[in-house]
Amino acid sequence: MKILMVCLGNICRSPLAEGIMQQLADKQGFNWQVDSAGTGGWHVGEGPDRRSVRVAREHGIDISKQVCRQFSKSDFELFDHIFVMDKYNLSDVQAMAPHALAAAKVKLLLGTKEVPDPYFANEMFEPVFKLIEDGCEELIRVLAK
Ligand code: 4NP
Repeated sequence: MKILMVCLGNICRSPLAEGIMQQLADKQGFNWQVDSAGTGGWHVGEGPDRRSVRVAREHGIDISKQVCRQFSKSDFELFDHIFVMDKYNLSDVQAMAPHALAAAKVKLLLGTKEVPDPYFANEMFEPVFKLIEDGCEELIRVLAK
């Protein structure tokens, strides 16, 4: 199974989602590949935001080696599922879908709720980590069936 996590910058939320989901899948012994990307290209080639690296490390996950990349149309073919953090990501990614089947691969990570952008709010990184962790735990229950 190939899963792509998407946010706006690919430096705060989706790197956390990639790290958390990959660790959960590995722990279950699932041979899943998890990646992440951003709808925007401002930070391409950079590592994750140091606040995300820190909160992940505090929870036993190393995301420091990830490299930011921008979402591309080819990702619709490469991945089975595409999970986005908020409704802007949802409409931006779906607008790039070449057909309805591709658009149907795209879902909010939290189902109907959004993962808020913590970029301008240092105190949001811990609650954002928890939200993403809850979402990934629910996902693994659903997708493992
Ligand atoms: P992310 O947060 O989408 O969770 O990675 C952001 C990071 C950078 C920017 C916006 C959101 N930015 O505008 O540079």
